[in-house]
Amino acid sequence: MTQQQPRRSVAVEFEQVVKAFGPVQVLHGVSFAIEPGRVYGLLGENGAGKSTLMKILAGYESITGGVVRVNGEPQHFVSSRDAEALGIVLIHQEFNLAEDLSVAQNIFLGHEKKKGWLLDDAAMEREAAAALAQVGLQVDPRTKVRRLIVAEKQLVEIAKAVSRHARLLIMDEPTATLTPGETERLFKLIAQLRADGVTVVYISHKLDEVERITDEVIVMRDGRFVTRAPTSELTRHQMANLMVGRELADLYPPRDVVVADAAPAMQVRRFSVPGWAEDASFEVRPGEILGFAGLVGAGRTELFEGLMGLRPASGSVEIQGRPVQLRNPRDAAKHGFTYLSEDRKGKGLHVHLGLRQNLTLMALERYATPWLHPEAERSALAAAVKDYGIRTGDLDARASSLSGGNQQKLALAKVLQPQPKVVVLDEPTRGVDVGAKRDIYFLIQKLAREGLAVIVVSSELMELIGLCHRVAVMRAGRLVSTLDADQLTEEELIAHATGTATSHA
Ligand SMILES: Nc1ncnc2c1ncn2[C@@H]1O[C@H](COP(=O)(O)OP(=O)(O)OP(=O)(O)O)[C@@H](O)[C@H]1O
Ligand SMILES: [Mg+2]
Repeated sequence: MTQQQPRRSVAVEFEQVVKAFGPVQVLHGVSFAIEPGRVYGLLGENGAGKSTLMKILAGYESITGGVVRVNGEPQHFVSSRDAEALGIVLIHQEFNLAEDLSVAQNIFLGHEKKKGWLLDDAAMEREAAAALAQVGLQVDPRTKVRRLIVAEKQLVEIAKAVSRHARLLIMDEPTATLTPGETERLFKLIAQLRADGVTVVYISHKLDEVERITDEVIVMRDGRFVTRAPTSELTRHQMANLMVGRELADLYPPRDVVVADAAPAMQVRRFSVPGWAEDASFEVRPGEILGFAGLVGAGRTELFEGLMGLRPASGSVEIQGRPVQLRNPRDAAKHGFTYLSEDRKGKGLHVHLGLRQNLTLMALERYATPWLHPEAERSALAAAVKDYGIRTGDLDARASSLSGGNQQKLALAKVLQPQPKVVVLDEPTRGVDVGAKRDIYFLIQKLAREGLAVIVVSSELMELIGLCHRVAVMRAGRLVSTLDADQLTEEELIAHATGTATSHA
């Protein structure tokens, strides 16, 4: 359908836009305009209302008050199709793919190509392949989405939007799950779209990206428009301060000293997860923050999924000196070992359940006594909302009603709820705003200080460098080296992760 669309431009004006979910108002009269052919960075803390405003623009949410004008005409989109008809397409922060359909079927969902009465699968697969090539994803368009890893799903979302020939493309945290290489390719694509006159709204907490690719920055705070400025006139530090509305102090806490002779909290020997990780041995001590670096596909996540009993694996594991056989995450939690999944929506949270249920799922034993149940759960939630700074208007809400970054904070609270001895945090600050990032780093330090052993798996090298006592580097399923804090630089980590550090040494 989209091939014949005219190459028109799209200008948008928000005028006093109000949005309420039931009694909770989240947008309080937002007004600003977007001009065609520019790349805008939309900034704001978790829960500021960025996604909600953009969902209204793209026809996914209704407007409670105010007006959205597109090219001067007031619009009342009833569905995303209405917005798409004007060339407005949103790439969702939380993926919106049908897991049991193929990549091609997802790309054409709701826009199926037909040959007479029949679906034209061949044409759809061909066009899907072209869109996938544009975003640099090498998978067969017939692959079921369920089989893809998170980064691949993100690229399918982008390919889907690209294939709709958007004139205004909204990207909500598109690079949260991408590798640096994939991110570079996306930036080239954005530059290409911009040259074509496409307007891009880019929502991200990665301020270096915002600095690099946007023309102008628009800042929201607490459901309101705060300011706008040409990107070139702002430093990253100024952007961060505008978002949070105050001067931000140091992002990372000072590093504590780990007791050198403490017995390991966890000891892993010759651990293998067939197809993913081979012969990994490492240990982590109480109070230690141990990083895991590596390229996507290096096997970090799979290694820990194996340790949690989520994948077939072999090798020995000791927790606090006792050999354990972990069959599943709940079993692992009983032994004092929990894991925050990088796949927040898929494996981390049950988004259709309430906040309370999510929080206490891993720690059921502590709440199972009948007379403690609802009250204890409720006060645990109230405490977690406070401790982790989870922004919600309603303690009885479903997890799906939280903004992306706040879902991440809830997931973090959930894995710490059973009071583990060892916790693995896989991409703990994904989608989290700078202020909340700092809170999470200080929280991790506080937990470590109290004796928790923390393993941080992250693709943000600066985060590993700023936070960890040691960083283990994995490459192609093998643990290739472990660097001490004083050896940690981005170059060094990249060299070990890519194998250029040890070549012919
Ligand atoms: N379906 C919903 N029901 C109730 N409240 C909602 C719903 N969707 C969003 N909210 C609330 O609206 C507020 C704004 O959320 P929104 O997702 O727009 O934030 P955001 O700026 O995109 O944050 P993030 O950076 O974390 O993605 C939040 O307080 C959120 O809890
Ligand atoms: Mg959002």
